[in-house]
Amino acid sequence: MSKVYVFDHPLIQHKLSIMRQKETGTKQFRELLDEIAMLMVYEVSRDLPVEPVEIETPIQKTTVNMLAGKPIGIIPILRAGLGMVDGITNLIPNAKIGHIGLYRDPETLQPVEYYCKLPEDATERELFVLDPMLATGGSASAAIGFLKARGCTHIRLVNLIAAPEGVERIQKDHPDVNIYVAAMDERLNDHGYIIPGLGDAGDRLFGTK
Ligand code: PRP
Ligand code: URA
Repeated sequence: MSKVYVFDHPLIQHKLSIMRQKETGTKQFRELLDEIAMLMVYEVSRDLPVEPVEIETPIQKTTVNMLAGKPIGIIPILRAGLGMVDGITNLIPNAKIGHIGLYRDPETLQPVEYYCKLPEDATERELFVLDPMLATGGSASAAIGFLKARGCTHIRLVNLIAAPEGVERIQKDHPDVNIYVAAMDERLNDHGYIIPGLGDAGDRLFGTK
């Protein structure tokens, strides 16, 4: 069963509270998402393996720990997942980036795929799938399904806000994928929006409504 990690760090909670407010404009929304993604990746990457490496400081030789294991790939789900990329690449600059284009049909709430371009060696990487909103879980489940169909095996899901319905969907469809969220909200409304949520993440990020 997937584990769910909820980040209750005061800085993350404060920044997310500003993002939720309807008065918060596109510029500030974008900056805050970037900052929260950067803070979250610190915890998302906590269990990455390290290995001892011999180095020489200006004083003497010594053994230090450096990252080992699989290199990282980050996979934003278009559009809103793009808003989390810079924050993460600030801390993991060597990460390669793949894109999965999906939108949720407003009538059926089913995900529709329109783009997929992954790093050539995606199957060799530890993949962080990014999307601020986990609502019904249909989009994230489909994106993870695409990655698995292309042979990827090490996948983590990183969301800003999740609804219990979305978490249940991922746990059912992809029990091997752990979920990292800044907040667990109450539930979905009749239109599939997260309550209390923050509205439409893509529109708020890109100023399209
Ligand atoms: C939003 C969001 C997720 C999806 C979540 O994207 O960014 O991808 O909805 O909903 P779900 O869990 O019920 O699938 P949207 O479809 O609005 O596309 P956009 O990012 O292009 O605006
Ligand atoms: N997509 C969003 O952007 N917001 C929601 O609340 C649900 C899906």
